[in-house]
Amino acid sequence: MFSMDKKGFPFRCRVFTLFFMFASFIIPCLEPEVRESPGKLSRVHRELSGVENCAGCHTAKGKIAPSKCLDCHKELALRISAGKGYHKEKGKDCAACHQEHNGENYPLVQWNIEEFDHRETGYLLTGAHRKGTACDSCHTPANSPARENSKSFFLKDNRCSACHKDVHNGSQPDCTDCHTTKDWSVDIW
Ligand code: HEC
Ligand code: HEC
Ligand code: HEC
Ligand code: HEC
Ligand code: HEC
Ligand code: HEC
Repeated sequence: MFSMDKKGFPFRCRVFTLFFMFASFIIPCLEPEVRESPGKLSRVHRELSGVENCAGCHTAKGKIAPSKCLDCHKELALRISAGKGYHKEKGKDCAACHQEHNGENYPLVQWNIEEFDHRETGYLLTGAHRKGTACDSCHTPANSPARENSKSFFLKDNRCSACHKDVHNGSQPDCTDCHTTKDWSVDIW
């Protein structure tokens, strides 16, 4: 027979309750040890150094959640949810390409710009836009979202008229009805 307390709970339940109260008190005290960083964050994330920020990226030891990255990277989150841009099918495993804890000078983005295949962005470079036209002649600071320590390849405006003079003063908004990226001449026949 169990001995009962005043409210009728078996004594054994009270022992368990006490045990869990003790456990929930002692586990947070162990955390600083569990939370030792495996290495410095890259320079762009410098402001996230320190144990109070681990949970900004991590859900558990060594595990990151894309949703946490995307809480900060809101422009990227919008591109992914719209199914647009280079990241459109890359939203699941950020760490496959963006490694951390390798020191301040370690580049978070590892890519060979010279060999970048622009088709991966969903926007084809054709005609005069093909290889040979420097990235920077299209990805200008004026048409890109502001960044402090990095460069963004998002474009605020991707219409032809963002980069070319609209000689028709807005009367012909759908440029590709008449023009290609080869040259501006129009074949009227
Ligand atoms: C800016 C985001 C970010 C912050 C902040 C961050 N980490 Fe990480 N951490 C990562 C990424 C990305 C990885 C690589 C995950 C992977 O490979 O799946 C990682 C990996 C790890 C790993 C596994 C390392 C390995 O070699 O397997 C541990 C442990 C870890 N982090 C601990 C921490 C601790 C502790 C903190 C806080 C002091 C912290 N991290 C802060 C992004 C972050
Ligand atoms: C002729 C103009 C032009 C040139 C040259 C060009 N781009 Fe782009 N790029 C664009 C346009 C337009 C987009 C589509 C933007 C959008 O969909 O909003 C784009 C998109 C991108 C994106 C994807 C951005 C996103 O929204 O995910 C990346 C990355 C990118 N370009 C990298 C490059 C690199 C690297 C080079 C040089 C090798 C380059 N681009 C050369 C016009 C250009
Ligand atoms: C297959 C590799 C790959 C994966 C997976 C990937 N990225 Fe990227 N990421 C890149 C490359 C390459 C660039 C540089 C081109 C660009 O800006 O689109 C980049 C650029 C970025 C940028 C800079 C964009 C800007 O304009 O500020 C951020 C932020 C970013 N990635 C976050 C993420 C996050 C968060 C995830 C997961 C949800 C992720 N990436 C998944 C390769 C990857
Ligand atoms: C607390 C906000 C915050 C969180 C969380 C965060 N970042 Fe960032 N990230 C930033 C800031 C700020 C920059 C620098 C932007 C600038 O240059 O102005 C940056 C830059 C980047 C860049 C561009 C680096 C470059 O050199 O072009 C990548 C890639 C990136 N973050 C990926 C990630 C990934 C992956 C995660 C999740 C593991 C993550 N970020 C979590 C704030 C954050
Ligand atoms: C209804 C057809 C049509 C549309 C739509 C159209 N254009 Fe044109 N555009 C023309 C014609 C016709 C010419 C003269 C071509 C020639 O000289 O062979 C021309 C010429 C041009 C030129 C060359 C001017 C010069 O001095 O050589 C530019 C630049 C141009 N258009 C830009 C645009 C832009 C940007 C858009 C979209 C905002 C646009 N066009 C939409 C028909 C059109
Ligand atoms: C993000 C900027 C950007 C966008 C968007 C863009 N272009 Fe271009 N375009 C350029 C650049 C840069 C060049 C190369 C100019 C040079 O080499 O001097 C170019 C060259 C051209 C040329 C060759 C003649 C010339 O002016 O040099 C044509 C024609 C052209 N683009 C048409 C278009 C059409 C049509 C669209 C829309 C479907 C478009 N472009 C969208 C940046 C852009």
